[in-house]
Amino acid sequence: MIHLYDIQKKIPKTNTMLFDNLSFALNNHQSVAIQGRSGSGKTTLLKILAGFDTRYNGIYEFNGKTVSKDTKKNIKFRKDNIGIITQNYNLLDDRTVQANIQLGLKEKSKNQKEEIEDILSLVGLSGYGAKKIAEISGGEAQRVVIARALIKKPKILLADEPTGALDEKTELDILNLFEEIQRFGTRLIIVTHSDAVADVCAGKYVLKNKKLVLQ
Ligand SMILES: Nc1ncnc2c1ncn2[C@@H]1O[C@H](COP(=O)(O)OP(=O)(O)O)[C@@H](O)[C@H]1O
Ligand SMILES: [Mg+2]
Repeated sequence: MIHLYDIQKKIPKTNTMLFDNLSFALNNHQSVAIQGRSGSGKTTLLKILAGFDTRYNGIYEFNGKTVSKDTKKNIKFRKDNIGIITQNYNLLDDRTVQANIQLGLKEKSKNQKEEIEDILSLVGLSGYGAKKIAEISGGEAQRVVIARALIKKPKILLADEPTGALDEKTELDILNLFEEIQRFGTRLIIVTHSDAVADVCAGKYVLKNKKLVLQ
């Protein structure tokens, strides 16, 4: 599904190489965890996979087609295929849960209300639609972020330290959710420090020496 060939990436404004001939393949049936030390480039790699960062050399293929470095085409690519859970939640605090999840939809649909209800129930937030983000807990907000990423049923869900700020119980809930998502056919690429999170993924990689190394 995803192929990276010989990716080279320099850290902006310096001459340091962050990735050097990094290659990676993700097949249709696999989810992967990416681990690695702070500063090894995990977040940067997710940004490249998401199409946010196109300043790299090398080839990124999605289902056999090269992912364009053109901004407009990238936005469409992202909307059509990729859901993202970033480290800063990027939720609108003064808007409702429902309004925030709506932002993840490709376009308005007739069944929008039911779709949002379904996704809220999937993430364990039934009845939360009308609450404002400012009124819910951190763990609940994290689930709203996941719901927003999942509402368009992306082929790939990228997650950057999705449980980093959560307590153990909430982490377990999110883990169960990730296992369920995979049953619906969405594949995950998760950057994580947690071995428990890595364990829900079939493939495990470490980012080191400027490359992705299979564990
Ligand atoms: N926009 C940027 N400008 C300058 N340096 C950056 C920028 N983004 C990332 N870096 C640098 O690139 C390296 C990798 O960062 P990052 O991908 O965030 O690593 P990780 O997520 O593994 O901690 C770090 O040394 C960081 O300081
Ligand atoms: Mg990071």
